[in-house]
Formats: sequence, C-alpha cells, structure tokens
Amino acid sequence: MEPGAALGLPRLCVLLAALLALLPRCSQGSWMWLGIASFGLPEKLGCANLPLSARQRELCKRKPQLLASIREGARLGIQECKNQFRHERWNCSVPAASSAAPPASEVSVFGYEQSSGTKETAFIHAVMAAGLVHSVTRSCSAGNMTECSCDASLQNGGSASEGWHWGGCSDDIQYGMGFSRRFLDGTISRNMTGKDRDGVTTMNLHNNEAGRQAVARLMSVDCRCHGVSGSCAVKTCWRTMPAFEKIGSFLKEKYENSVHVLERAKRKGRRKERYQRKIPVHKEDLIYLHRSPNYCVQAPKLGVPGTQGRECSRTSGGPDGCNLLCCGRGYNTHVVRHVQRCECKFVWCCYVRCRRCESVTDVHTCK
Ligand SMILES: *[C@@H]1O[C@H](CO)[C@@H](O)[C@H](O)[C@H]1NC(C)=O
Ligand SMILES: *[C@@H]1O[C@H](CO)[C@@H](O)[C@H](O)[C@H]1NC(C)=O
Repeated sequence: MEPGAALGLPRLCVLLAALLALLPRCSQGSWMWLGIASFGLPEKLGCANLPLSARQRELCKRKPQLLASIREGARLGIQECKNQFRHERWNCSVPAASSAAPPASEVSVFGYEQSSGTKETAFIHAVMAAGLVHSVTRSCSAGNMTECSCDASLQNGGSASEGWHWGGCSDDIQYGMGFSRRFLDGTISRNMTGKDRDGVTTMNLHNNEAGRQAVARLMSVDCRCHGVSGSCAVKTCWRTMPAFEKIGSFLKEKYENSVHVLERAKRKGRRKERYQRKIPVHKEDLIYLHRSPNYCVQAPKLGVPGTQGRECSRTSGGPDGCNLLCCGRGYNTHVVRHVQRCECKFVWCCYVRCRRCESVTDVHTCK
C-alpha cells in the first residue's frame, strides 16, 4: 500500500474488503466496535461473529473469559477520548450504542480519524491500547483470570525499619501489557515485515505502545495505616494503576506535544522538523504523519462535521470559548428556560419542601 493512499483508504477498504478480505489495515481497528456494542451483545454474538482480525478471533476463542475485558477496555478508551476532547473542535464523537450485529465489512468507530494518520489518529490508538491494559489488569487483580492475578513479586517485601510492608493486591500490569501487544500489534507484526508496512501502520504500532507506556508510567503506590487509634505505626502498601482519567489527561498532553515524523524515514522515526532532527523520538511520545484538517468547516468527504451548531462559552478563553470553537465565525444566542426545585427546606419531621423556580440562561452556539 502506498502511503499516499492513506486518505482514500477507509472507503477503499469497504469496497475491497468484500473482494479481498485481506487488507490488513482494514481490520486493525475494527475491534473498537466492541466499545459501542450494547451490553452483553458481544458475548451473545460470540468470537466468530465479532469484527476481529483472524488473529484476534483466535485469541478470543482461546480465552473467551477475556472478551468482557476487551469490551470494557474499548469502552474505557472511547469514553475517555470523548471526555478529553469534549471541548475541542474535533470532539471524538462516535456513533451511539449499537444494539445490532456489526456490518460484515470494515467497522470504523471513529470514522476518518481512525486511520487518517493525524494527531487524532495517534491519540485514538494510544488511548484504546491503554484501555485494554487497564481493563485486563483490573480483571487480573479482581481474581477473574487464571493466567494472572496480583503482583506476587511484591508480597512479603517492604521496609520494616520504615514501618511499612507490601500487602493487599498490587496491580500487575505485565500480563495486561502483553495481552494488549498480542491482541493489537500481533496481527501486524506477524503478517508483515517492516518493509511491507505502510506509514500509518508503523505509526499505529508506535502509538499503541505509547499508550501502554502511559499506564506503566503512571503506576503509583497507595498505603493504608494500621496501629492503635490511627497512629499509623505500620503501613500496608500496594502498587496501583491510576484512574483511567489520569491516563487520558497524560495522553492528551502527549497529543498536544505529538511529533510530526517523516513518512519516508518512517523506520528511523525521524522528526519532520529539520532543526529538531537530532532529538530522538521517545517511546512515550505520540507520533503522526499528516497534518489535521482544521475541523472548523464541514468536510463531508472526510466525515468532518465542522463546528457549526456546537455550544460554546462566551467567557472561556480556552478551546470551548466561542472565539476559538467557532473559528471566528461568530455565534447565535438562544434563551433557554429551566424549571428547577429550589429554596428547599427540611421540615421536621421528615420531608423536604421546595419551591419551583424558573431560571433563564443564555446558550451560545457557533454560526
Ligand atoms: C469479575 O467477574 C465478575 C463476575 O463475572 C464481574 O461481575 C466483575 O465485573 C469482574 N471484574 C472485573 C474487574 O473484571
Ligand atoms: C460533538 O460534535 C458533534 C458535531 O459537531 C455534535 O453533534 C455533538 O453534539 C458534539 N458532542 C459534544 C459532547 O459536544
């Protein structure tokens, strides 16, 4: 696949999938559909009927108990993408929950952005790979898996002189990291040598790993105190993953500082900016190949809806401010009435009495 074909690929995929059913890029991200499938649907359909690559299907069949974690990982990633980008021009919108079986051809939850090779593509792949690590590791710690559990290497250790010891359940992310690699990257590295990989595939592999590294990087230690009346004479400590939102914020920052790399020198991972060429690209960095569209105006071919009609804040100086979000086009103001319970008083005994209040707020939407 020539790198230049990247833009037309999603649609090309749909066309070709039926004929070839072999284009590796087409099936790479289809598993993400599990994140918008309605609850219980993937289990009902079974591994064979899910939009997975051949290798993913094989993994799913071999470890059916993992299906719930894969689904949860996809859900986490999608939800966090929407959360981190809710105020941006590109707001990571995805289709509503799907209660029907996925289409037989390519499934693209994030549309154009899933494979466009832009910074947004980088974030999507990183956050989805991280979601998978997080949910599988949670499942290990919960004792739901036979292959993994809490981190046993930390038991019985600690520092008696400093008054703490390891205890409880430390999250062991090694299994989750390995599973995320096998499930997401395995398909590609096994079937293709570096020479055959196109630029976006190489980019996705790097960003998958950057997402997993973010989980490892943000591991922390939690402790609980013991001893007479909270004296904290002895502490029990364990290693724990952060809430997934922390990982999302970390990756959002990586997105904002993501590195534009050259497509030609992709295997060297060289920076595009000439004056920065000497600075190596770190494995925690997000990388991208193509500049993003501006997301201001509708671009039906790319599935970009534009920001017309989006709600904005008149007072915010951030990305949700009307000036930035509406790209200087200005905004409309509507008056919206709300009826709420208010001036609630507790009446002895025992109920709460409220009044009905009407309030009026201005809602601003982009022109
Ligand atoms: C563990 O399994 C139980 C029962 O199947 C399930 O309800 C729970 O959500 C699982 N927990 C995790 C973290 O996977
Ligand atoms: C995201 O953008 C789309 C398209 O402009 C809009 O329909 C949707 O309401 C937005 N979602 C949020 C949460 O703002």
